[in-house]
Amino acid sequence: MADARGARRARGRAPETIKTLVGTLRLVARVLAVANQKGGVGKTTTVHALGSALAQRGQRVLLVDLDPQACLTYSVGLDPESLPLSLHDVLVGRNKAAEALVRAGTVSILPAAIDLAGSEVHLVGRVGREHAVARALETVKDAYDVVLLDCPPSLGILTINGLTAADCVLIPLQCETLSHRGVGQLLETVADVRAYTQPDLSVLGAVATMFDGRTRHAREVLADVEARYALPVLQPMIPRSVRFAEAPATGQSILGHAPTSVGAVAYRELAQTILDMLEP
Ligand SMILES: Nc1ncnc2c1ncn2[C@@H]1O[C@H](COP(=O)(O)OP(=O)(O)OP(=O)(O)O)[C@@H](O)[C@H]1O
Ligand SMILES: [Mg+2]
Repeated sequence: MADARGARRARGRAPETIKTLVGTLRLVARVLAVANQKGGVGKTTTVHALGSALAQRGQRVLLVDLDPQACLTYSVGLDPESLPLSLHDVLVGRNKAAEALVRAGTVSILPAAIDLAGSEVHLVGRVGREHAVARALETVKDAYDVVLLDCPPSLGILTINGLTAADCVLIPLQCETLSHRGVGQLLETVADVRAYTQPDLSVLGAVATMFDGRTRHAREVLADVEARYALPVLQPMIPRSVRFAEAPATGQSILGHAPTSVGAVAYRELAQTILDMLEP
């Protein structure tokens, strides 16, 4: 991963350019990529919990697992090892997206398995490789109100595909020192996607995860990110809670596993914030 190079490029770009990426949301935005190349910041947790919360609000929700680690697929209660079909089969053109879709509780999922790593190899060197996920979703997305894409922790071809297929991006940020590192590079990548493959892509904002309201430190980190990148932090912030770690093994999101927990309440409120932003 070209972290240092990307950071240098991000620093070289005028802040105004980054600013224009935020707040240009199309009112019909429906495909949300949840992305941050930093690992373990809460991308998968956010996709699952937000998807469940949106489904509770009557939205028809499709989750897409773009990560060969297949954590989202596992979290919704599926065994990635024994799936008959996964996103990989769709991306290499063997099957249609509709054939790989699985219903998991209140949401649908286009699941991943480890063979998705092979999709990256397959796509590299192909004409139109950035559009493979967008093309796959074209035939199914109209059956849903919201599509949430769980991107892997890299800025590789699968994340670029996620951004190209999306109307807007949500950036989970863990509220700790150095969490801003990489945000500039991610926004730079968003700018590149806007320039080359998806001109209407916008940044919806950051989701503050694992927030510890008892310390001033977490608030300072978020204020720094907001000021540095003009990146709005969506409300509410998601508190740190041990209940999140328990949820994946139950095959449910935090909303199903611990519906009255602070984390479930926060994601339900975040779902409302996002619906208010998406709806005209
Ligand atoms: N608000 C929270 N409080 C406490 N733990 C959390 C919270 N959100 C997520 N976690 C835990 O943090 C870990 C990483 O979360 P998650 O898998 O969602 O991150 P990720 O960004 O998708 O990781 P990766 O980059 O590997 O895909 C998991 O063990 C998850 O249970
Ligand atoms: Mg993940």
